[in-house]
Amino acid sequence: MKRNKYIIGNWKMNGDKSSIKVVNTINKSLQRKRYNSKIVICPPFTVLDFYSRSLKRSKISFGSQDCHHEESGAYTGCVSSKMIKDIGAKYSIIGHSERRQYQNESISEISNKIISALKENLKVIFCIGEQDSEIKVRTKILRKQINSLPAKIDTNKIILAYEPVWAIGTGKTPSLGDINSIHQNIRKIISKKFNPKIGKGISILYGGSVNPKNASDILNLDNVDGALVGGASLKARDFCKIIDSYN
Ligand code: PGA
Repeated sequence: MKRNKYIIGNWKMNGDKSSIKVVNTINKSLQRKRYNSKIVICPPFTVLDFYSRSLKRSKISFGSQDCHHEESGAYTGCVSSKMIKDIGAKYSIIGHSERRQYQNESISEISNKIISALKENLKVIFCIGEQDSEIKVRTKILRKQINSLPAKIDTNKIILAYEPVWAIGTGKTPSLGDINSIHQNIRKIISKKFNPKIGKGISILYGGSVNPKNASDILNLDNVDGALVGGASLKARDFCKIIDSYN
């Protein structure tokens, strides 16, 4: 079964309008070559509108790093899926470990966010992953996190990103064998929860310290369908090298 491939940049609380230089470099590189993967960039809310409008005709798609589950209302500081959709974004990261950790996002809150994003026709980049203290009970943790997904899913609308928390921004990564077998295990969990067709068809990205040096090895693993890239996604040359190493 052919699965969609993605390279997704998560800028976190970094980047502004001047980062258009980074995006333009990536865009030029995409115009020169044919790539099999879809390229998505998730900038902060303050510039999401700017990027999704100014690069409307490019091959790069844009997404948010979070969304609120209600359409509108008295939720100071929040941005709804509908608002994200209205400015032309196509994707939303949901359940990133930094939000689980610093904003105390719960499984049920994440579940509501996924439902609202899907309702607005946004593609969901759903992050799961264990802390270093949870490695021994990883399967249990992943299964619990996967419970945020609604009862029925479409593999064109949900992208999973496995991001071991201890690998994010640390320069550490699991071994290649571990990444492949954990992804295979996630596929099994999904097959059991939904059905084998969904398990085979869902794209599972790896995230956590992906850089130009390790990208090719990670991206060429059987069960890996792309990468969610943090730090290296704001460095045009590094991000382009990561994209190149996948094709
Ligand atoms: P990193 O971040 O590539 O800087 O480790 C990945 C992420 O948090 O999505």
